[in-house]
This record gives sequence, C-alpha cells and structure tokens, in this order.
Amino acid sequence: MTTRDVAVVVGSLRKESFNRKAARALMELAPETLKLEIVEIGQLPLYNQDIDSNPPAEWTAFRERIRRADAVIFVTPEYNRSVPGVLKNAIDVGSRPYGKSSWDKKPCAVVSVTPGVIGGFGANHHLRQSLVFLNMPAMQQPEAYIGGADKLFDADGKLANDATRKFLQQFMQTFAAWVATNATS
Ligand SMILES: Cc1cc2nc3c(=O)[nH]c(=O)nc-3n(C[C@H](O)[C@H](O)[C@H](O)COP(=O)(O)O)c2cc1C
Repeated sequence: MTTRDVAVVVGSLRKESFNRKAARALMELAPETLKLEIVEIGQLPLYNQDIDSNPPAEWTAFRERIRRADAVIFVTPEYNRSVPGVLKNAIDVGSRPYGKSSWDKKPCAVVSVTPGVIGGFGANHHLRQSLVFLNMPAMQQPEAYIGGADKLFDADGKLANDATRKFLQQFMQTFAAWVATNATS
C-alpha cells in the first residue's frame, strides 16, 4: 500500500479557527493511504522579490516541506470574497524563485469553511484561479463549500454534524483516488 504525504494548508491564524477544526476533521476522516499534516504559514515573512536571492529561513523550510509533499489540501476562510492575505502570501512564497515553484504538479483540493451561507464560494474559486497558473491539478468534484461552520463543531472542536462528516469522508476518499491518479512523486 502506498502512503501519500498530504500537506494541509489552513488559511486562518485564529486560535478557534473553524477552518483549522475542519482540517483536523479531514485528518481523522482520511483513508489510510493519505497521511495529512498541517503545514503552518503564520510564521512566513511577507513575500518580497528583493530578498529572493537571500531568502529567510522560514521561506526555505516552507518551500522544502511543500516540495516533499505528494499532494496539498487548502482549507480556507473567505475574506472579502477572496482568500485571506496570509494564505496568498504562502502561495506566493511557495511559488518562487521563478521556475522553482514548490507547488508545481502537486494534486490538490480546496475546502472553504465559513459561518456564512455561501460556503466561501468566492474564496474557493479565487484560489482555483491561482491553482491553474501554479499547474496544480485541483480536484473538481465534489466541491466543498462548508457553510454554517459556527454550528458544526462541539466544545472540544470536534465535528458534531453527521451529514458533514459523511460528506467530508466521501470527499477524502475521492481525493485519495485523485492523488493516486495525478501524483508525480
Ligand atoms: C477581514 C474579514 C473578511 C471577511 N469576509 C468574509 C466573506 O467575504 N465571506 C464570508 O463568508 N465570511 C467572511 N468573514 C467572516 C469569516 O468567515 C469568519 O471570521 C470565519 O470564522 C473565518 O474563518 P476561521 O474561523 O477559520 O478563522 C470575514 C472575516 C474577516 C475577519
């Protein structure tokens, strides 16, 4: 059985983040063939092309971690109908220096999580625009727009909604097949 290393990138730094709780739920619901790990992004200095020739250690470590991964799952809030700046920064950091993007060809999936009713559709699809350019095969179905997130988790941060659990479990099974088909490593 081949086990795939999946980097989970969460677009919120908030301590009680619904997106982080959802990411943890994905880790529990993933089939055995996928080993998920949250790769932190809050420590990354803002991307600045001037220092590409002498990059901060945090950039280098992040780039190497993403390069090692077989696949990536983005779990993101929606900020003003797009992704939070902290996530865009991580994407930009990982994409450089030019021609050496860590993201290249990694199969990926997008999950957007919000208390709102639109399920983070704007963020989800803004992110997909970058994924096209980054040459990352992004799973198309099922789409994961998780709304009403303020009602999905219990006091311990565990998923407490059976329909959502079933959906995310199916999502992860389909993603495992997507990774098996599209992984290059
Ligand atoms: C700057 C900012 C902009 C936001 N814009 C949106 C938005 O466009 N759509 C939405 O559904 N929620 C929006 N929200 C509410 C977030 O969905 C909510 O804060 C959510 O809890 C963030 O995710 P987290 O719990 O993982 O931190 C916004 C929140 C902030 C702080």
